[in-house]
Amino acid sequence: MILALETSCDDTCAAVVTHAGELRSNVVSSQGVHDRFGGVVPEWASRHHLELVNAVVDDALSRARVSLDDIDLVAVTQGPGLVGALLVGVATAKGLAASRRLPLAAVDHLQGHVAANFLAPDPFEPPFVCLLASGGHTLLARVRDHAGYETVGRTLDDAAGEAFDKGARLLGLGYPGGPALSALAARGDRAAFAFPTGARVAGLDFSFAGLKTALLYKVRELGPRETERRAADLAASYEHAIVSALIARAERALAAEAEPRLAIGGGVAANRLLRERALALDVPVHVPAPELCTDNAAMIGSAARWVPPRAFPDYLALDAYATRRRAA
Ligand code: KG4
Ligand code: ZN
Repeated sequence: MILALETSCDDTCAAVVTHAGELRSNVVSSQGVHDRFGGVVPEWASRHHLELVNAVVDDALSRARVSLDDIDLVAVTQGPGLVGALLVGVATAKGLAASRRLPLAAVDHLQGHVAANFLAPDPFEPPFVCLLASGGHTLLARVRDHAGYETVGRTLDDAAGEAFDKGARLLGLGYPGGPALSALAARGDRAAFAFPTGARVAGLDFSFAGLKTALLYKVRELGPRETERRAADLAASYEHAIVSALIARAERALAAEAEPRLAIGGGVAANRLLRERALALDVPVHVPAPELCTDNAAMIGSAARWVPPRAFPDYLALDAYATRRRAA
């Protein structure tokens, strides 16, 4: 069994996953301390990970009804993410692994989001196109095997999750803004306002900066009282623009495939409208459970199954990385 840790941003996560991809436990402790700042405060995130990580690991082991004796591989997110936050997970994983002389697998966070699709009971087998949309990244990946992917399109500016979070902030909603904006949008009219979808960007790349600016101008034009009165319509139209941009590029990528199949991943893949629109496409589509789309350690354990493990004590010098450095 694999014990996996994920601490790349503000969620402290641990999970137990079998080598066959069965989920034994999946614990996520959201810090909930960043909303008053409208975003994640890196130093706070690291401190909270330090306070929570041992309890979260113990919880993951006990929910799986196993002990460290049953674990034969420790997996951890090495990057990309906030370095201080990542280091808490990396140091904890090294300590746990070294205490039993277990091997350690260093996993890329984005590969983890792809690998959420490989978990039992309904693993989606490559090849497929994967739409990855999170708070830090938005890209289209061509997945040929379990171990990596090729990026075929990416955002030129903001990530889709960032667009959700910034839009939510403009509408006076808390952080993280995606779920809050989406809940508000459910009561609104998505045709009320026409927001840009980055349609002018050619090929498979995305652009969300113009959308955020368009919402800012609209909010200024409407003024505070009218913005509040029409908040649900604004949210619905804004969400519709983000999701339409994502789906349009995914469709373009699928059109170039001999065997078009689509998977989604990343926090934005928990979005109700995106899931609906993806499932309505005329190709086989795989949509992981929402809790496997937002940050979690189960996806890291899943990805670890195809990462060459490092033997004790080679991993003791392992470092975290903030930005993606390998084209996995
Ligand atoms: O993958 P993730 O949990 O963390 C990163 O790796 O960034 O993604 C977090 C992002 C946030 O921007 C959050 O607002 C967005 O995913 N998100 C959503 C929803 N749930 C999370 N966006 C839209 N609708 C949702 N239901
Ligand atoms: Zn993520």
